[in-house]
Amino acid sequence: MTQQQPARQLKLGFVLHGVGAGWGDWRHEHAVTDASVNFNFYKEQAQLAEKGRFEFLFVADSVHITERSSPHYLNRFEPLTILSALAAVTSKIGLVGTVTASYSEPFTVARQFASLDHISSGRAGWNVVTSWLDGSARNYSKKEHYDHDVRYRLAAEHLGVVQGLWDSWEDDALVRDKATGQFLDPKKLHKLDHEGEFFSVEGPLNISRSRQGQPVIFQAGASEDGKNFAAQNADAIFFHADTLDEAQAYYRDVKARVAAAGRKPDEVFLLPGIRPIVGRTLEEAERKYEESASLVPIENAIAALARPFNDHDFSSYPLDAPFPDLGDLGRNSQQAGSDKIKQHAKAHGLSLREVALWHARPKRTFVGTAEQVADEIERWFTQGGADGFNFFEALPNSSLKDFVELVVPLLQARGIYRTEYGEDTFRGNLGLPFPQNRYAQRAAAQAGAGQEVQDALEIQEALA
Ligand SMILES: Cc1cc2nc3c(=O)[nH]c(=O)nc-3n(C[C@H](O)[C@H](O)[C@H](O)COP(=O)(O)O)c2cc1C
Repeated sequence: MTQQQPARQLKLGFVLHGVGAGWGDWRHEHAVTDASVNFNFYKEQAQLAEKGRFEFLFVADSVHITERSSPHYLNRFEPLTILSALAAVTSKIGLVGTVTASYSEPFTVARQFASLDHISSGRAGWNVVTSWLDGSARNYSKKEHYDHDVRYRLAAEHLGVVQGLWDSWEDDALVRDKATGQFLDPKKLHKLDHEGEFFSVEGPLNISRSRQGQPVIFQAGASEDGKNFAAQNADAIFFHADTLDEAQAYYRDVKARVAAAGRKPDEVFLLPGIRPIVGRTLEEAERKYEESASLVPIENAIAALARPFNDHDFSSYPLDAPFPDLGDLGRNSQQAGSDKIKQHAKAHGLSLREVALWHARPKRTFVGTAEQVADEIERWFTQGGADGFNFFEALPNSSLKDFVELVVPLLQARGIYRTEYGEDTFRGNLGLPFPQNRYAQRAAAQAGAGQEVQDALEIQEALA
């Protein structure tokens, strides 16, 4: 049966998370224990995701660890390095990496992403984060971590500088004419001359724009400042939601902020994280769910709970007493995430043990047969909860394979997921417009205005 493809298609991202997001995943029988620093492991996952027509690969990052950090965080690749290597063994899939605005220089970041964008022929994306762990400051020669609101102000300026630098070269600035000896047209190379609160950057950048114009921008703000920043700047936004109701509330809220920022809501994609568990039967899915939950015993759940609270050590609190009063702890870290945990504990009168297990164990939302998982995905997609999803593996080294083999064909048959990549660039595949170079646009506008004046003069002369 041929089906008419609706214009709107699911956007799927796959999270390259090495040995897994949790503390216990690496002990699973299928886990590759050095996966987080194993290029061949990532290469296979990247190629499988591309076979499944995923929109992008995503590499998360942070810049501070302690001995309590999870195995993946303890020992992993730097995102742009692994993505550059994966660019060479994939051809269509987008390559999205996290770099923190709080602890990086815009000139370096602009240059690195522009390089990845050229290496991959227009497939780079930047997940702009502000860093929630205060130890990050101590790795970057700073005594104190920036406050939450300052981090977002800094990120806005940082991103503006990076995007300004990316436009240093107009698209036809590089003449490269061997006959005349003209390498560049200097009128089409632009300095930025930025002087701001946090950065002072002259430019121009020493690398040109790629085939997609500029890398795609991702963000994951959850607090008020974070959602506003994301709505104003991001092409795609990650978020967490345990239920469709929660996803719909975030979706409505952030799409309204996108519109209020004068942007088109259809051109900003909201992507909740999911951890699907697919079985050939419901019993098989249930068994796999139990397997996945068993990777999170209480001590691992407590370690996971620490993260939104700036790696707070919960080991001294009694496990079965009511969830402790943490005051403002977490507000300068993952603000919205830590607030949500405190509110959930209070609303349901939970103990520390119950809160930790609720927080860290996989949810049952996308667990079932391939049909059931496809139904749930379609429900979130068509009922205003998501424009697509960011896929985390629930069971190491197997969930992606199950999904690509069993769920992807169903989504394709339903006409909500593409069967082929339509375009060559990441931006093109997402259906996002090509960003015109700001200087070329300005010059065209001035030329247009000049032409209008000229036309008016000619009309006046003709009438005289
Ligand atoms: C799917 C997803 C991926 C994220 N990836 C990263 C990451 O790689 N590095 C990071 O520091 N924060 C990451 N974050 C956290 C966000 O950047 C942000 O700190 C968090 O959502 C809290 O937002 P808030 O500061 O606005 O409260 C991620 C969040 C989500 C939902």
